[in-house]
Amino acid sequence: MTTAGTLQPTEQPPQSDDVVFDVSHVTLKFGGVTSLNDISLQMYRGEILAVIGPNGAGKTSLFNSLTGVYTPQEGSITLSGRPGDAPVSVLGKKTHIINHLGAARTFQNIRLFPALTALENVQVGIESRQKSGPLSAMLGMPWQRREQREAIAAAYRLMDDVGLAHRANELAGSLPYGEQRRLEIARALGTNPGVLLLDEPAAGTNPAEKRDLGQLIRRVNTEREIGVLLIEHDMKLVMSIAHRIVVLNFGGKIAEGSPAEIQHDPTVVAAYLGTPPDEAAEPAADTDTDTEGTAGAHGR
Ligand SMILES: Nc1ncnc2c1ncn2[C@@H]1O[C@H](COP(=O)(O)OP(=O)(O)O)[C@@H](O)[C@H]1O
Ligand SMILES: [Mg+2]
Repeated sequence: MTTAGTLQPTEQPPQSDDVVFDVSHVTLKFGGVTSLNDISLQMYRGEILAVIGPNGAGKTSLFNSLTGVYTPQEGSITLSGRPGDAPVSVLGKKTHIINHLGAARTFQNIRLFPALTALENVQVGIESRQKSGPLSAMLGMPWQRREQREAIAAAYRLMDDVGLAHRANELAGSLPYGEQRRLEIARALGTNPGVLLLDEPAAGTNPAEKRDLGQLIRRVNTEREIGVLLIEHDMKLVMSIAHRIVVLNFGGKIAEGSPAEIQHDPTVVAAYLGTPPDEAAEPAADTDTDTEGTAGAHGR
């Protein structure tokens, strides 16, 4: 495969019929706006699948539909979060249930608890899968104290793993932007996911942070065997780490393939890759409609 960028996929994930997310004919509408128009796609176990497309194309809407934030009017979505899990429908399920089923996500706009320490943010992710409820926590039951010790230890390990051990006791809101994005990934990993959904993880980061992020995503994928669904505008990053790419435009899927195939796909080049950024942004000129509130420019 010929791809741009410094990181090259060393090996393809096993091409299997082991499907993690199975999206079939999904349509999502808000009043007169069709955010997703008859979308079908599969994410396979262990792969890094990138979702690209201009602002307003429907990428975040897709993530929100996969994670129970939105319920599409038409179509089906099933999830087999961890190896061997039978596929279950995510439609109508609450976000925290889908998280328990093995899908964890980060947000286009960072959603950390800024007034908690970095470590506490990761601890929150870990504790969300522990058995202690608020009552046992209040009563200080022995197993609750043991779980808390374990959560702190696990949170430190995760912080170390994403290169943030030295920041453990600083307030999350005080960390540089790129580190907050890594912290969000650590918190998501704390929920022990089988699949990680990252919504523009490189947005607002500098080139060195982008490179580190690419390596982190690759490492999460290979060492932890976690599938990664990645929304990202930075094409260098996408082309260097994605095994496959799905391209959305105006809520529809216009292409799907390897990075090399996508880079040379005339439809994609015309709709997204090849045109100057100001022209390419035209279909989504109304960037206020971005549901997460940021108007990510192309190639950012
Ligand atoms: N909650 C919502 N209410 C109204 N419109 C929405 C909502 N969520 C998404 N949309 C619309 O769906 C379209 C796709 O948005 P989005 O999924 O955020 O695109 P992307 O992430 O690709 O930039 C936009 O036109 C947006 O205005
Ligand atoms: Mg978005």
